[in-house]
Amino acid sequence: MRLVLLGAPGSGKGTQAKKLMGHFSIPEVSTGEILRKAVDDSTPLGNDARSFMEKGELVPDSIVLGLVHARLKQQDCNKGYIIDGFPRNEAQAAALDKMLSAIGAPITAVVSIEVSRDDLIKRMSGRRICKSCGQVYNIHFLPPRKEGTCDSCGGDFFQRNDDKEDTIKKRLDVYEARKASLIEYYGKRGMLKSITGTGPVHEVFRKVCDAVEGA
Ligand code: AP5
Repeated sequence: MRLVLLGAPGSGKGTQAKKLMGHFSIPEVSTGEILRKAVDDSTPLGNDARSFMEKGELVPDSIVLGLVHARLKQQDCNKGYIIDGFPRNEAQAAALDKMLSAIGAPITAVVSIEVSRDDLIKRMSGRRICKSCGQVYNIHFLPPRKEGTCDSCGGDFFQRNDDKEDTIKKRLDVYEARKASLIEYYGKRGMLKSITGTGPVHEVFRKVCDAVEGA
């Protein structure tokens, strides 16, 4: 299965991608995670991407496309993958198709996770991540058993730099401005399945699994 997970910032793409990864034994390819690591490591690419990410803007296609191309060529992607956070616009979608048709391994499913703007804001502002193991929590919806402490490893939490109120709104505006053309791109090709992303994580997971059945 070669799956693209679409959805607004905070819609639960990363949460679902991690569950799918365990279920189907294929890797998650998250452009956001790859870019955040590059920023933290202060690589040249990370230094170029930093200001865009801090402002909640998209990182230029010229940076992101090379990064996706390199990641999908890695051996662990041979049996399939779940892409989360890419494509973000029609140009990226077309570039992905071109990249994959060159190797005869096209995308087999596209699922869009839909969540209301009010819930998205609450999800992002409430997101907390374990500094040690990366487990993602939410102070409103998925709190840890003990406040401020990771259930899995006992680590402390941090908040993403782009989960500040102004940046959250900017990210949502950036997504909304491109959503229709992206949905149309995959809709026209008969590939798009949309699901509601509200409700418990395991219920959303069931809906995603139903949507990708046979892909
Ligand atoms: P990226 O990291 O891709 O962020 P995003 O798309 O903004 O998505 P998020 O990671 O915020 O949310 P998510 O949908 O994964 O939700 P999650 O599962 O964490 O991108 C960051 C930045 O990098 C971009 O702004 C851009 O600058 C750059 N970038 C990345 N890709 C790019 C590209 N292709 N082109 C250009 N630039 C790019 O869940 C969110 C919260 O909700 C968590 O707290 C979680 O616990 C909670 N939650 C999850 N599911 C549920 C549920 N069912 N009920 C209640 N709470 C839930």
